[in-house]
This record gives sequence, C-alpha cells and structure tokens, in this order.
Amino acid sequence: MPKRRFRPKIVERLELGELVTFVPNKNLPVYNWFYFKEGFSRDFVHMMMDRFKIGEDDWILDPFLGTGTTLLGCKERGVNGIGIEVNPLFLFIANTKITDYDIDELREWSRWLFRHKFEKPSLQGLPPLVKRAFNKYNLEDIIFFRDKIMEIENRKIANFFLLALMRAASKVTYAYKDGAVIKIIKKPTPPFRPFYRRIVKRMIRDLKRMEFQPSTLITYLGDARRMTNVSDDEVDAVITSPPYLNKIEYTRVYEIEMTLFLGSDIVNPIRSYIGLLPRKKTRELPSFLSDLDLPPVAMDYFTDMWRVLNEMYRVLTPGGSVALVVAEGIFPDRIVESDIIIGRMAHEIGFRVPEIWVVNRRVATRNRTIKIGVARESIVFMKKPK
Ligand SMILES: C[S@@+](CC[C@H](N)C(=O)[O-])C[C@H]1O[C@@H](n2cnc3c(N)ncnc32)[C@H](O)[C@@H]1O
Repeated sequence: MPKRRFRPKIVERLELGELVTFVPNKNLPVYNWFYFKEGFSRDFVHMMMDRFKIGEDDWILDPFLGTGTTLLGCKERGVNGIGIEVNPLFLFIANTKITDYDIDELREWSRWLFRHKFEKPSLQGLPPLVKRAFNKYNLEDIIFFRDKIMEIENRKIANFFLLALMRAASKVTYAYKDGAVIKIIKKPTPPFRPFYRRIVKRMIRDLKRMEFQPSTLITYLGDARRMTNVSDDEVDAVITSPPYLNKIEYTRVYEIEMTLFLGSDIVNPIRSYIGLLPRKKTRELPSFLSDLDLPPVAMDYFTDMWRVLNEMYRVLTPGGSVALVVAEGIFPDRIVESDIIIGRMAHEIGFRVPEIWVVNRRVATRNRTIKIGVARESIVFMKKPK
C-alpha cells in the first residue's frame, strides 16, 4: 500500500475568529450563566454539527468539556452527548447548565430561600484570600445563603441556587482575574440579597426562554488521556478544544469559587487526576516529534495530546469526525505550530486530516515589545476512515 501523505489543506477563515471564543455566548441564556474566558461558542458547536451532518440519534463527545458549551449545544438540537472534564468546578457548572429543571419547583425553592431572615454566620476559618475578596457584609450574606442552600436535599435544585450564588458573588467581588493572578481592587457594591434574588429570577426566566430537546447527556469527572468510561466506536463526532500549549495555568484564579462553593476538599482530585498514566500502553510517540527539537514542556504537551488523539480514535465510529480548536504555543524564541503537529500526529494514528482552518492570527511578543512572530489559532479537522 502506498504511504499516505500528510497534506492538509490550510484554509484562511479569519471571519470565524470570534466563534471560537466565548464572546458570542455572552448574550445567550443559560450558556452565559458563567463567563468562561477559555470557552468557545454555541454557534461554533452548531456549525460543526451541521458540517458533520449530526442527527438526533448521534453521539457527540467533548473530552475537554469546560463549562459545557458543547453539551448545551447538543441539548438544543436533541443530540446525545458525552463530556469529560478534569476540573470539578467546571464540571459542576456544566452539569448545572445542562440539567432539566421544573420551573415551578425552582420558584417554590426561591421563595423558601429568600423567606429566611439573615443570621450572621461565622467567617472564621475562611482563607485570607476569600476574606479580602469581598466586603464583610456581602461575604456574610454569601455564606448565609450558601449554608441555607446546603439544607436543600435535592442536589439538582441546590446546585442551581449555588451557581446563581456564584454568579452573584462574581459581580460583587473585589477579586479580578488578571491572566494567572488574582488582583484585589475595591469598588462600591450593591446590597447582596436583592441583587442575588434578581439573578435567581433572571436564571429562572432564562430556562423559560430556552428550547431544549430531549436527548441523553452524560458527563464524567475524568481525564481525556484515559477515557475509561467511553467504549470503542461509540461516538459519531468529537467537538473540542484542549488547553493550549504554554498558556499560563489558569485554574488557580478560580480558587475563590472552589473554596467558597465547592468546599476545599474537592480541590484535591484535580491534582491526582493530572499525571495519571493511561492503563493501556499508548502507541509509541511518532519519530517526527523528536526531530522537531521542541522545548521540554512542548514535548510533554504533545505526549499528552498523543494519548488524547489515540483515545479519540478508539472511541470514534469508523467515518466519525473531529473538530479540534487549538492555538500555537508561544515561546521566547519561537512559535510552535501546535495545529500542524497535532494534525500530523493524528495522521500517524490513522486519521485523515483533510483541512486545517486558520481562524485567528495574533502578533506574539516577548516582554510586550519584542515581536516573536504571528501565532495562529486553528480548527484541525480529522476523520476516522470507514
Ligand atoms: C480550552 S478549555 C475547553 C473549554 C470548552 N470548550 C468550553 O467552551 O467551555 C479546556 C478544558 O480542558 C480541561 N482539561 C485540562 N486537562 C484535562 C484532561 N486531562 N482531561 C479532561 N479535561 C481536561 C480544563 O479544565 C478546561 O476546562
């Protein structure tokens, strides 16, 4: 058999640049319950579903689920979906957004929640960062409501109010996420109780505004490098975006949400998940990788992505497609072409890689002044042969 060539068509589609960001979701009910800077948009998910001709009985997988845009996109179209996410906070947000709710029941619980008179909770034992992140009265209100919510036995309902509380808290906090760090900037804030109540009302109204179709949606707290819960040949398409190479580690800026709303005990599973090796030995890394003389962090990244790609190949049905959004890695002395390298690894695994769409080009600088080059963000398309 002649050796297959790796020659994807590189197509310039800069008009789609905004679609691979969270921005178009900002005005979409339910999608916008949590602003996730690293997310992509519902319109991107739907565009890919149309391209792959996904119908109602099909299954979509997003192994880097984030806050759930892909599964919510499935829910709107009545398509089945599986999501895997390593971070319990993001998984909690995704699950709360994709849940089916009884609106009357939510209204009843809302009346119950706001019926209670304020009782001053103790702020002892809260981490210093959390105390600095709010004015004292707001923080007391937040803790008071959080503890009341914990009395709701129905987890679905409790999580809805908890996410609303997180959303309200994010609007009155002094903490700003600035890249990888949290900055404290004091500002005037509204009285918390009426503000929180308005957010709950708006979120209930959001549910009325959305038209969801029946479908099966499954999520796992897990690792994309080792999708133990997904069977071979199970999914018809993968729509996803992994963390980007050499991007600052952003999960630490969610420390306040993690400790206040999920309880610090839940922080630990993340660390133990990262670094787990796949049980089955993955095929050996392709030799072209070592010829590229990549920085060690890039080698680690592509080793992980090699595992993820192998897993995607395993779980896809023959004929199944992948759309993977990824940006190039910026290093002080060079730009690493993640899209091409991932495409080439996919090709070595057996995928066909027909096209790579370049959707963004950004000037990359060192110390904000010295130009390193122009970094691409792309959609890599792959297809498992029939
Ligand atoms: C670029 S974001 C995806 C955002 C998502 N498309 C959205 O719109 O919300 C990458 C996500 O992958 C998650 N992640 C990182 N490593 C992972 C792993 N090994 N397995 C599963 N998820 C992982 C991160 O926590 C993050 O939520």
